[in-house]
Amino acid sequence: MWDALKTQYKRVKDRRFETMLDAARAADFAASAGDMRLDYAKTNIDADTRAALFALLEETSVAEKRAAMFSGQAINETEGRAVLHTALRNLDGGPVVVDGVDVMPDVLATLARMESFANDIRDGRFQGQGGPITDVVNIGIGGSDLGPAMAVSALSPYHNGPRCHFVSNVDPADIADVLRTCDPQTTLIIVASKTFTTIETMTNARTAYDWMSAEVTSPAAQFAALSTAADKTAAFGITAERVFGFEDWVGGRYSMWGPIGLSLMIAIGPDAFRAFLRGGQVMDVHFQSAEWHENLPVILACVGIWHNQICGYATRAVLPYDNNLNRLPAYLQQLEMESNGKGVAMDGQALAYHSGPVVWGEPGTNGQHAFYQLIHQGTRVIPTEFLVAARGHEDDLHHQHQLLVANCLAQSEALMKGRTHDEARAKIADKFDGAELERQAAHRVFSGNRPSITLSYPQLTPFVLGQIIALYEHRVFVEGIVLGINSYDQWGVELGKELATALQPVVEGKASVDDKDGSTASLVAFLQSHGL
Ligand code: F6P
Repeated sequence: MWDALKTQYKRVKDRRFETMLDAARAADFAASAGDMRLDYAKTNIDADTRAALFALLEETSVAEKRAAMFSGQAINETEGRAVLHTALRNLDGGPVVVDGVDVMPDVLATLARMESFANDIRDGRFQGQGGPITDVVNIGIGGSDLGPAMAVSALSPYHNGPRCHFVSNVDPADIADVLRTCDPQTTLIIVASKTFTTIETMTNARTAYDWMSAEVTSPAAQFAALSTAADKTAAFGITAERVFGFEDWVGGRYSMWGPIGLSLMIAIGPDAFRAFLRGGQVMDVHFQSAEWHENLPVILACVGIWHNQICGYATRAVLPYDNNLNRLPAYLQQLEMESNGKGVAMDGQALAYHSGPVVWGEPGTNGQHAFYQLIHQGTRVIPTEFLVAARGHEDDLHHQHQLLVANCLAQSEALMKGRTHDEARAKIADKFDGAELERQAAHRVFSGNRPSITLSYPQLTPFVLGQIIALYEHRVFVEGIVLGINSYDQWGVELGKELATALQPVVEGKASVDDKDGSTASLVAFLQSHGL
C-alpha cells in the first residue's frame, strides 16, 4: 500500500487543493467526536488517497493491535510490558486484566487516596509546619513534568487550590527561581518520578529537602512521592501514606492520568480532575468504536503519515489559538518524538520509511509575529495543526476572543490560497512600475497550497482537555503501528545519560579528560578556564 500511496502523491502533488474545496468536501473531510471537530479539508488528501491510507491501516492490523493494547497484552515488546494508561481513566468501565489480575481495584483505590490527600491540602487539613499549604512544587522531568505542567497551565481558569510550581531542569536556576517564591513552612514538595532514579529529579529533590530542612523540623513530613518504586521512595524517607504508586504498564509520557497528575488535581480539585479523566475515556471509547472515516485519532494519524512519510514534510507545527495551551507543543514533543522517534521497527530491522516528524509550535497569535514568515513563504512545506475554542473564559473580553478566532481561520485560509504574482502586482501597482514593480511583487507572492488541519471545540474545559490529550495519544499509537515502531520504549535517551555520568568527574576536575575526543576535551578546558 505504501507504493500505492507514493503513486497517489505523484498524481496529486501539483494539484491545488483549494480547487476541490466545495461544501461537500468540507463536510466529507471533517469528523467529530465528543466535543471535538476535526477539519482536514485544507489538505491534498482526496477520497482515493484516504482510501489508500485506510487500506494501510488494514494492512498493518491497526484494529487488532488496538484491541491488544486495550486488553493488556504486552505490546511494549522491548520492555515486556503492557500499555494501559487507558486503565487510569477507565472510571466506570469493566475490568482490565494484566497477567490474569484485574488492575482496576488498585487504580480506583489510588485515585481515591489521591482525592482524599488533595482535599486535605485544599481544605487545610493537611498542613505544613507553618500552617495550610500555600505552594505545591512538583519536581519531575519529561513525562513526570510536562503533562501536569501543561495541564495546570491549560486549566488555569479552574484553579482554586494552592499555587502550583514545576521544577524539572537540573540547572540550579530552575529550582532556585521557584523556591525563592515559596515559604518552606507552607510548601508541599511532590517528587514525581516513575523510576525514582532520574538524576535531575533526585538532585532537585535533595536540594529541596535541604532548603526545607533549614526552616522545618520534619521536612519529610512535607514531601509526597509519585512513583512505581516504593522501595526507593521509602529509602528517601517519604512515608507510604504520601506515596502514590502506579505500575510499569503506565509509560512516563502517558502518566498524567494517574498519580503523576496529583499537582493538577490539587490545583483544580478532584471533581474537575475526574472531568479530565472522563474526557480521556470518551476519546478511548470513540477510538475503539468509530469507523475509520469517523475516527479522529485514526484520521489525525493518516494525515500525519501522508504528510510526513509520503509527502516528505519533515516537521509539523502545532499552533494552539488558545494561550492556556502554551505548553501543549512541548508536551506533544515528548509524546510524539519520544514515542515515534525510532530508527528500527519492532523486529529490529531498519525502518523502511522515516520515523515520526519533528513537532514544534507556539500559541497563536504570538507565532504569527515570529516564525509564520517561514511557514508562508519558506521553501519547505510545513503542515500546520491549529487548535481553537469557540469561547474563552473571559466573558467580558469575548470580542478579543473573536479577534483570536479570526486570526486562526485567516491563517489556514492564507496558507491554502496564497497570493499570485498578478495579485501581488495589483496591490502595489500605484507605488512601483516596470522592472521594479515585478521585483517588488515577487517578494509579496505566497505560493499557497500549504496544508493545515483545524481542531475546534467549545471551550478548553477539563473534559475537553482530556479529549484532546487522549486524541493525540491514540494518534501516536496508530502512527507507530503503521510504521512498525514500538511507541512505548525510549532507548534513544540512554546513551546521553551514560556519557553524562561518565563526564561528571571530568567536569569536576576529578578525572582526566585524556580519553575524550579533542572537541569535548577543549570544551571542558575552556569552561574550566572560566570557572567551571
Ligand atoms: O529519560 C527519558 C525518561 O525516561 C522519560 O521517558 C520519562 O518521562 C522521564 O525520563 C522521567 O522519568 P522518571 O519519571 O522515571 O523520572
